[in-house]
Amino acid sequence: MKAAVYTRYGGPDVVTVRDVPAPTHGPGEILVETRAAGVTTADWRLRAAAFPGLVMGIAGRVMFGITGPRNPVLGSDFAGVVAETGAGVTEFRPGDRVFGFSDGGAHAERLVMKADKAVTRLPEALSFAEGAALPFGAMAALEFLDRFAALKPGEHVLIVGASGGVGAYAVQIARALGAQVTAVGSGAQAAMLTGLGANHVIDYRARAAADWGGPFDVIFDTIGVTNYAQMAAQLADGGRFVPLNFGIGDFAARGAAKKAGHAVILQVNADTKAGLERLVAMIGDGSLRPVIDSRFAFADIRDAHAKVETRSRAGAVIVTF
Ligand SMILES: NC(=O)c1ccc[n+]([C@@H]2O[C@H](COP(=O)([O-])OP(=O)(O)OC[C@H]3O[C@@H](n4cnc5c(N)ncnc54)[C@H](OP(=O)(O)O)[C@@H]3O)[C@@H](O)[C@H]2O)c1
Repeated sequence: MKAAVYTRYGGPDVVTVRDVPAPTHGPGEILVETRAAGVTTADWRLRAAAFPGLVMGIAGRVMFGITGPRNPVLGSDFAGVVAETGAGVTEFRPGDRVFGFSDGGAHAERLVMKADKAVTRLPEALSFAEGAALPFGAMAALEFLDRFAALKPGEHVLIVGASGGVGAYAVQIARALGAQVTAVGSGAQAAMLTGLGANHVIDYRARAAADWGGPFDVIFDTIGVTNYAQMAAQLADGGRFVPLNFGIGDFAARGAAKKAGHAVILQVNADTKAGLERLVAMIGDGSLRPVIDSRFAFADIRDAHAKVETRSRAGAVIVTF
């Protein structure tokens, strides 16, 4: 089968599409024929060893390979068709349309998933590309806003990076949780952000952070351009500052936040079957829809990596097989 392989850290050109042995599945696993996959910010970070900050920089290399990548095939978000099922799998049958989040290996024509991990049926209304556009961004948004920030109906949330891979879902999920949303993102995407449900839209190039308003119950910074000290005056009593990327400074800020009656919430989200099923329910009730920035043929996956690395996009970047 064809896979997008990289054996050293670097720019998009370290990724090469070539023939590799197809993976084999065992008991409790399914073999999926990939039809579409997302190229996410995580794929860029892992490909370039571009881990944010010193702490993540060291931790990232320890986890994913000190001098070069341990896993040569990237890709978490996928949608495809079940080709074969292993012994003991009752949830899926060959021919089922599925989507999910793998621990790597989705940038290939086939991948193996444990049936009880983050994979579920793709809603009929969604194309494969739309299914592959959801997991990374929408699950992060759901976990951070619902579980970690405990965003409540009627609260006011500021979403920074609202037009990005995570932000476009954060806007929708915050509205689905009943919050009032101020979205800070690309001015060019103002109409899209309003369409996704933002109550107020701010162009980050036109207004400095001090002028974003408030008080906010939750500030969710999806791209790492603010910090607690800078935003404290715009947090309500009991407000939570929630950065998706964080470093030593964010840990240090927790004491000052507590004294001020705020919280700095530093978490890493898990990608689970239960999370995917919540997304499916939200797709079903119309509160969530996939947001795709651009699509590339799998053979052109380097271009997809280059697009993601620009950090300028509206929604997910997809490769199709
Ligand atoms: N901790 C965890 O568990 C976890 C989980 C998931 C993701 N993450 C991390 O979260 C981040 C999510 O990235 P992403 O994929 O959402 O990013 P992205 O798609 O690269 O974000 C780019 C978007 O942000 C906008 N933007 C750029 N600068 C801005 C600013 N100063 N203020 C407001 N908006 C701005 C851009 O607008 P323009 O196009 O106009 O520039 C663009 O729409 C990644 O760093 C990822 O590693 C962490």
